[in-house]
Amino acid sequence: MRLNSSPRSWKSIQSLPTRLYSRSHSPPWRPVSAVDEWVERAIRPISLRQLTFFGRTLTEPRLISSANYVRTELPTRLAHRLRDIQQLPYVVVANPHLTLVYQLYYKAFEKARVVPEIKSLEDNDRFCEILKEMLREHLVVIPNLAMGVLECRNLAPADEMDRLMNTLLRARISRRVIAEQHLALTETFNSPWHFPDSHDRTDMNADFVGEVFLKCKAKEVVERCGKVAQDLMRKTSESTQIPAITVQGHTDATFPYILSHLEYIIGELLRNSVQAVMEKYQGSTQPPPPIQVLVCETPQHVIMRISDQGGGIPREILPYLWSFSKGPRTQTRLENLGRVPAMAATMQELQVSHERKYAGQNSSFLSYHEGSLDTLTSRPPDLRLGMGLPMSRVYAEYWAGSLELHSLEGYGVDAFLQISKLGNKNEQVTTRAAIDAV
Ligand SMILES: Nc1ncnc2c1ncn2[C@@H]1O[C@H](COP(=O)(O)OP(=O)(O)OP(=O)(O)O)[C@@H](O)[C@H]1O
Ligand SMILES: [Mg+2]
Repeated sequence: MRLNSSPRSWKSIQSLPTRLYSRSHSPPWRPVSAVDEWVERAIRPISLRQLTFFGRTLTEPRLISSANYVRTELPTRLAHRLRDIQQLPYVVVANPHLTLVYQLYYKAFEKARVVPEIKSLEDNDRFCEILKEMLREHLVVIPNLAMGVLECRNLAPADEMDRLMNTLLRARISRRVIAEQHLALTETFNSPWHFPDSHDRTDMNADFVGEVFLKCKAKEVVERCGKVAQDLMRKTSESTQIPAITVQGHTDATFPYILSHLEYIIGELLRNSVQAVMEKYQGSTQPPPPIQVLVCETPQHVIMRISDQGGGIPREILPYLWSFSKGPRTQTRLENLGRVPAMAATMQELQVSHERKYAGQNSSFLSYHEGSLDTLTSRPPDLRLGMGLPMSRVYAEYWAGSLELHSLEGYGVDAFLQISKLGNKNEQVTTRAAIDAV
């Protein structure tokens, strides 16, 4: 849609500070922005299979080609999101938090679209610095989006705001996945264990290709995230009534995935469960019942059921469980969000904000994942932002999975997380295209 064809979008765009005017081909009165040009370009979705295969045999031409994909893909994707925001009603765009997000996106768009074609490793190094800076700057996006959506709750229908939030978050994941994957591939390429002159660089036994962990083991992720949630409660709560976490079923289930995304989802679910059980058993002499995790592997999926006996979800919360505008708890959420200046959603994001260090391929990844997981999930348990479940669902759905909760009132909660076994031949780029095309 052209800017001057819609009075509403035109009104919105006028409020935004960074519009451009055409210099030559259009009549002088018609505002034309670079966004107009970029928004005409289609997004080129990428599958986990493509991400992995691309990085398996890492050569200089491949790295350069990856850089150029990111170089053109980022401004395209940002242009589409800028256009989404431009088309919001004026009162919504005028919200200071959403304006800030718009400005950050515009700045990133302007910076990315003028990067010249990457032809050498030196060009790529410079480009990687731009990417890192962009990722760092955008850590304020999530809390600002959340506050914007909460503050606009009476200005636009809640389901429309949720749709916007979901689209922006999904798009954010997709941009970060491609940027972070390229940074990780560049680091692998530059690392001491990578030999650019070797003809045989395809290490079929490698555990990681860029950010993709080829051997995600459901049981280990549950145990690691569970321990983090328990340790946090041990540190911050007076109570010693911390529930145990057990894992049963197909405990050998292994699949390729972006580990930090899986850790985020499972971490949030376990955190909710541990908190619910502890609240219910506070002051009780009985030991708290364990949180039981069942892993079920099928040819296409890995399904995890997390069952707790924390009393279930309060009835008045249920309608708002997946919403970013949190019904009766809106005010508290806003106050809590105000205390979080920047928020990294996943471990990768934190990794970018602290320079990576390499000791050896596996050990570096291990120490990074352990270290950042600890930082991320150590946010105080009472600082509840109401983002855990809706964000987890966005992450689960991004890789063609799903997340559902069943609350048994007065008894407990069963959370079902379905993971698609990606990266194998079943992953259709066309299926993922709709998900990634944001
Ligand atoms: N397993 C559970 N048992 C009981 N209540 C739950 C459970 N999981 C979620 N809830 C309820 O649903 C609410 C929303 O959960 P969600 O994870 O989205 O946000 P939060 O935990 O309040 O905040 P955040 O996760 O952002 O710190 C929780 O505040 C809690 O009341
Ligand atoms: Mg939570």
